[in-house]
Amino acid sequence: MEPAELFLEALDRRARPFAAGARATFEANKELCSWLLNPLARWAEAAYGETVLDNAACGYARYCIGVAQSQKVYERAGRYTPEGMPEIMSGVYEDEGYAVPYMWAAILIYALWPSMVKHIAMFRDEFLRRLARNASVLELAAGHGVLSLLAAEERPDIRIEGVDISPPAVAVANRLLAVSGHGGRVSFEIKDVLKTDGPGTNGKYQGIISAMLAEHLSDPGPLFKVISRRISQDGIVFFSTAIESPQRDHVFEYNQESQPLQMAEAAGLRVTRLVSDAGTAPPGSRFLPRATAMILRSR
Ligand SMILES: C[S@@+](CC[C@H](N)C(=O)[O-])C[C@H]1O[C@@H](n2cnc3c(N)ncnc32)[C@H](O)[C@@H]1O
Repeated sequence: MEPAELFLEALDRRARPFAAGARATFEANKELCSWLLNPLARWAEAAYGETVLDNAACGYARYCIGVAQSQKVYERAGRYTPEGMPEIMSGVYEDEGYAVPYMWAAILIYALWPSMVKHIAMFRDEFLRRLARNASVLELAAGHGVLSLLAAEERPDIRIEGVDISPPAVAVANRLLAVSGHGGRVSFEIKDVLKTDGPGTNGKYQGIISAMLAEHLSDPGPLFKVISRRISQDGIVFFSTAIESPQRDHVFEYNQESQPLQMAEAAGLRVTRLVSDAGTAPPGSRFLPRATAMILRSR
């Protein structure tokens, strides 16, 4: 049995209402989903023991339920209605009991939601495989750290620095890093992305990852400025964000794919590829929850 199967079995046990959909996505995209889930299952079990699979499945179920509830409130209110930033900091990013299950869900959706599978395809095939040799890479809001670890697994020549504002998320990332065998080339640090000024190649990186972060910032404009300032002239950026997808910690509402695209252009970047895909919206709903991923380059 492939390690990826362990997650699907845990969903059967602990997240039954969501298990069939997840398995269908996995079966339809087996090679790509296994590329993510096989190493993730190995690292997670080595770092946390067997119980991690059930804990991750519970986190995934709680996340899916939270998303559905937030969508209902959004339909009624007609706009995002997030808590204030201090409450999000203390109740989400700094609260281990909330943040850790959330981090398992945040990575599992890449392999279990059809719309997010397209993101992981773009991440692997159009970002990682096209990075310059020996590239230095910065991951902004690395969360669980798994995108950086997959990057290290795929590209043994590159180095990666990940930052995130959430101490419990960075603790998960460091625990997975410790068993991944990539300790010499990957590091994770607690930091606000808008205060990112760490060392790189002459202050620049050949690769930047900013996945599912912009919607967490009250104004994403400065994020694009950071990306534009830190990416080298020949560098490549993987960027993604949620659109019309309310969640407890989504504070900036995008309604159209053109909005993050224009923010990127205004910061001196150009968009060379874009995918956008949606789940299913309930009949008669005003909003279509979805996520877009882009490849950006310097202009
Ligand atoms: C949905 S998770 C995305 C994690 C990962 N990038 C992914 O794609 O799965 C959002 C992450 O953004 C982080 N975050 C939110 N605001 C941040 C900030 N100002 N600086 C750094 N990280 C931040 C949160 O702690 C959380 O880990």
